[in-house]
Amino acid sequence: MGLVDVSRLPQHVAIIMDGNGRWAQGRGEPRTAGHERGADAVRATMRAARRLGIPALTLYAFSEQNWDRAPAEINALVDLLCECLVSERDELVDNEIRLSAIGRLHKLPQHAQARLRSLSSETELHKGMTLTLALSYGGREELIDATRTLASKVRDAEIDPNDIDEAALARLLPSMDVGPVDLLIRTGGEQRISNFLLWGSAYAEFYFTDELWPDFDANSLYYAIEAYQGRERRFGLVPGAEDGASPGAAGHELERAI
Ligand code: FPP
Repeated sequence: MGLVDVSRLPQHVAIIMDGNGRWAQGRGEPRTAGHERGADAVRATMRAARRLGIPALTLYAFSEQNWDRAPAEINALVDLLCECLVSERDELVDNEIRLSAIGRLHKLPQHAQARLRSLSSETELHKGMTLTLALSYGGREELIDATRTLASKVRDAEIDPNDIDEAALARLLPSMDVGPVDLLIRTGGEQRISNFLLWGSAYAEFYFTDELWPDFDANSLYYAIEAYQGRERRFGLVPGAEDGASPGAAGHELERAI
């Protein structure tokens, strides 16, 4: 933690939590055991992010494409999510963490939707940190949904097509409620975005690690932030124009200036 400059924290950290299956298979255990250990890593990362003072943490917990996995694995993931929504309730409440969820949530089983709704509304006024779970989420799907909404507004003469700009589209993207991604971490050794926060990651710094998600912990997060703080964020401008600090609202302006 001593490596991290808390005055220049990324304001929004997003994580592709990959490698649960390989972690389990490497130990001769079923893939679901990897997901269970992955839930421990979620807890450790959430705590570390909150302690540091990171305002927004978004986790890719279940992609639209994950529905193609074996039903037993899907059921185990949904059960684990529901268990965590119960077991982590006090942690969220005691630490002023707001829970949010993005994705095509209507595709989740009703009982999972109900638990998400309940904990989200219980924590909606919390200001300590926003923890967003991306569930049944896909970046392209999110853009399609927003485009449909915009098309309907045009049809109903609520918006002129010429008034559709970045801000108008971003307002319709639930993932942008907490602003653009500053630091995108992917564990598990692959180096791709896999349909995660496509719009919000436009100027994110990427950090890839071979570490498998169940092994990720507070120190792993500190290393990722240290790497982020060593980058020069330019947003398409000339070197030296940006000091590497988190851009926040200014970053929005710079993004628009491209
Ligand atoms: C990717 O690993 C991980 C997932 C598809 C699920 C992520 C879920 C968790 C971390 C557990 C619980 C989460 C919450 C929010 C309570 P993989 O299975 O694709 O790994 P592999 O590439 O090694 O097969």
